[in-house]
Amino acid sequence: MRMPLLQIDSLAAGYGKRDILDNVSCSLFAGSLAYVLGPCGAGKTTLLMAIAGLVRPKRGVIRLDGEDMRRKRPADLLARGIAYVPHNRLLFSSLSVRDNLLTAVWRDTDRPRIEEQAERLGERLPFLKACAHQSAGRLTNGERQLLAIARALMSRPRLLLLDDPYDELMPIEAERVAELGGQLAQEGTAVVIAQRSATPAACAGEHAYRLDAGRLLRSEAPAAAS
Ligand SMILES: Nc1ncnc2c1ncn2[C@@H]1O[C@H](COP(=O)(O)OP(=O)(O)O)[C@@H](O)[C@H]1O
Ligand SMILES: [Mg+2]
Repeated sequence: MRMPLLQIDSLAAGYGKRDILDNVSCSLFAGSLAYVLGPCGAGKTTLLMAIAGLVRPKRGVIRLDGEDMRRKRPADLLARGIAYVPHNRLLFSSLSVRDNLLTAVWRDTDRPRIEEQAERLGERLPFLKACAHQSAGRLTNGERQLLAIARALMSRPRLLLLDDPYDELMPIEAERVAELGGQLAQEGTAVVIAQRSATPAACAGEHAYRLDAGRLLRSEAPAAAS
């Protein structure tokens, strides 16, 4: 039987004594595109950060390829293929576009592999090459979001977690980001997109989960999610 890339069972997580996520269970196969929908404060960021190891689970299990990831550090999870693109993108505005890409792989000493991946990303997203030496702060919001995703792709993740990637983007920019997410999933990466409302892209996605006050509801008919 095909094993899910990511399997979450009865996850509870939060901050201090306060639980935010309650009994969250879901699974994701390689190459799938999933949406986590929910209003501000629903726990979307907490869920993505728990998967990335940035928030410690209090109860429940998170498995990657069947292996328990609970005690792994974020850097180990990144090395295992989980990459998180934070909500506010957290780029280094005064660094160049190229240097922002390189921050993702500063521990990696395999220069040829890094150059090859940067080259590949430059072919996919030409502005990365055209603006390589420009500071990231001068990019448009859409380009900044694409750069944040490209930075995550530098480590060749198998699971890409995009937190509110369309925030502050114009529709045409959001479309480009959605298109990239779809392409990555088709190429075999599992992609999770957290966003506040169901867009047409989310409705067309394979899985749409709704987070409601920390509880995950599976929407069997994504088109019905609103
Ligand atoms: N670092 C934190 N410390 C304490 N509470 C937090 C922290 N981050 C988020 N929260 C709380 O957790 C809840 C869920 O937040 P979050 O996961 O950011 O939701 P969403 O991404 O869906 O907006 C909110 O009530 C928020 O105030
Ligand atoms: Mg959030």
